[in-house]
Amino acid sequence: MKKLTAALMALFTIGYCFAQTPAEKQKIDALLKKMTIEEKVGQMTQVTLGVVCTPVDGVLDTAALRKAIVDYKVGSILNVTGHALTLDQWHTVVTQIQDEEKQTRLNIPIIYGLDGIHGQTYTLNSTLFPQSIAMAATRNVALAAAGAKVTAKELRASGVRWEFAPVLDCGRQPLWSRFAETYGEDVYIGKTFGSAVIKAYEEDGLKNPTAVASCMKHYIGYSASRTGKDRTPIYMPDIEMREYYLPQFREAIKAGASTLMVNSGEINGTPVHANKYLLTDLLRKELGFEGVIVTDWEDIERLYTRHLVAESPRKAVAMAINAGIDMSMVPSDFSFYTLLLEAVQKGEVPVARIDDAVKRILALKMKVGLFENAYPEATATANFGKPEYQTIALDAAHEAMTLLKNKNNILPLAKDTRILVAGPAAQSISALNGCWSYTWQGKEEQWYPLDSKTIMQALVDKLPVGNVSNVSVRGFDSPANYDVDKLTAAAKDADVIVLCLGENAYAESPGNTRDLALPDNQVKLAEAAAATGKPVILVLAEGRPRFITSIEPKMSGVLMAYWSGKKSAEAIADVLLGNYNPDGKLPFSYPRSMGEMVLYDRKPTEDIREIFNADMNNTGYDPLYPFGWGLSYTSFEYSNIQLSGNTLKGNDTLTISVTIKNTGKRDGKQTVELYTHQHFASITPNMQRLRAFKKIWLKAGDTQTVSFTLTKNDLAFVNAQLKTVTEPGSFDVMIGGKKATFTYAQ
Ligand code: BGC
Repeated sequence: MKKLTAALMALFTIGYCFAQTPAEKQKIDALLKKMTIEEKVGQMTQVTLGVVCTPVDGVLDTAALRKAIVDYKVGSILNVTGHALTLDQWHTVVTQIQDEEKQTRLNIPIIYGLDGIHGQTYTLNSTLFPQSIAMAATRNVALAAAGAKVTAKELRASGVRWEFAPVLDCGRQPLWSRFAETYGEDVYIGKTFGSAVIKAYEEDGLKNPTAVASCMKHYIGYSASRTGKDRTPIYMPDIEMREYYLPQFREAIKAGASTLMVNSGEINGTPVHANKYLLTDLLRKELGFEGVIVTDWEDIERLYTRHLVAESPRKAVAMAINAGIDMSMVPSDFSFYTLLLEAVQKGEVPVARIDDAVKRILALKMKVGLFENAYPEATATANFGKPEYQTIALDAAHEAMTLLKNKNNILPLAKDTRILVAGPAAQSISALNGCWSYTWQGKEEQWYPLDSKTIMQALVDKLPVGNVSNVSVRGFDSPANYDVDKLTAAAKDADVIVLCLGENAYAESPGNTRDLALPDNQVKLAEAAAATGKPVILVLAEGRPRFITSIEPKMSGVLMAYWSGKKSAEAIADVLLGNYNPDGKLPFSYPRSMGEMVLYDRKPTEDIREIFNADMNNTGYDPLYPFGWGLSYTSFEYSNIQLSGNTLKGNDTLTISVTIKNTGKRDGKQTVELYTHQHFASITPNMQRLRAFKKIWLKAGDTQTVSFTLTKNDLAFVNAQLKTVTEPGSFDVMIGGKKATFTYAQ
């Protein structure tokens, strides 16, 4: 044991980090010297609000609070007991917690953490933005950052300074119930949006009442579960991990992420919470992350209860802490505190490792200004719920809307069109917002702001009286929403049917599905709508692509609305009625069926459909709608792709320009996307990789030239030795259907 301790000590004295000034470092060192082992272990303990709460939401139990803070010395609290609280309730909760902390010997403030992946989940009347999958569809990084800034302000206004976001998991498995929380299947989009959002949370400086500490999650590979079920095994070779899942975290660390949450699953048979290679060697040493590593929910105990790699709860604790975990989201009891103390006493966890973790936690608390003032700040409160946040939410929802089909330009609908609204999502607020919306699951509509609109209401608001008829009811699962006969009868008096299908809100494991096909009752409704002979516009409110392959040919229009937050309904109505010209682009390949789940950055042989020997074709990438797809009410023509040279040499740059003309009759936005493909490489080259994008606005008839500058890093990939390299060779560069070729030479 001595030997182990010495080795670990050497490893863990790699220095802590991110207290900004030498004076702060000194303060942390001085504090650490005064702390007992119990106080240190307490700092590493995080419990959920339920542990210190009465059965009434948001009302604390003073005896339980004392037990947690004074007896068990916990350093952090998270979460809610049931649903979002008012701003005032949060202030009371946080104040009581920090007051109680004043009863402790060293007065180390408590850090509270909350989830807010698309807006501040747990404060009533906060502003909810599109989920990340929809944000990625906007291809507007500045807009995502603007939304994140609002989220930071509304969280800080609530008295909380630690945000459990963003999710940096790459959405390459559409079955996964957390797909909506991702930025989709592409690495470049993931790292660009992820790092922009982290900057938005933190860049004002965490002592400033407009900023919060971010938590990049869930490190690493979480989204790649084999079966698509949440928290189930991942098998992933290092080359795949480094190519598709690690770059987002590397960029996030460079962007200044303060904390990181760990993947609850296992990779290649080792739970990530027990994986010292991933948590210490790769994350700390190679990527240089210096912030706090927090577990996900109950994940240390689960090394024993679920993963079966630890023979006892204490061994689980020792395993995780020795692997590199700093804080345990225990969260429902104090077992971690007791077990870690025991493990330290038995020499199973070196005190140096504890000191390393506690230093990082204290540094975080210092960084967010808790030592100066741990209470809700009046200046922060003033930033809650400003009217302009609604505009950002509407802009984001508008830009997320992705028009997938528009047969014979049926859309936009004329203002005198008689519309029949149908389908379970037509009068649902939760199906427009999805997970993490005032409750974890997002399903309880009583907690949503009173001015939240349904698609039906938004259409009624925007059309002349009497033009909207309706067969939908509140309650996504209500049988009345699937009444085929009622729909058929009502369609007689309508010019067009707006059929709102998709998924009601869900989060994490409750969203596991056995099948991506739309449920039968929705398919039947779509078939009945089509059978009326009236044109049907399908609006999809969903967190992941549910198969619509059998009904899609019968639809005149298809609008992908995702879960686009507070202003979803208004944005949908604006697109249907032409008040907004859609510009969203799919951030994933919309699959046809289970057997056609090929991603856009496929390998050469995925492109090939071999029949026999030479008898083959290149139709392997055959999604219903490809990555990057999205129609507009105007048209754009690309021409004149130009390169600054035929060769990119060494560390030089290559400029690529292309001309885009708005050839239609409406002004509109267009995302210009640049893809590359290397002809031959030591590792099978991707058929396409998105390397850059720019979103422009063009008036009808106008022309603009857009330029991109590439370096060799933009062409890099992970080779067999797990090094990120750029190999000499020929490359295609593709923009808007135009192609040019160049060579990279070292
Ligand atoms: C989720 C995390 C979340 C945490 C705290 C877990 O179940 O996986 O994403 O941050 O709960 O609410």
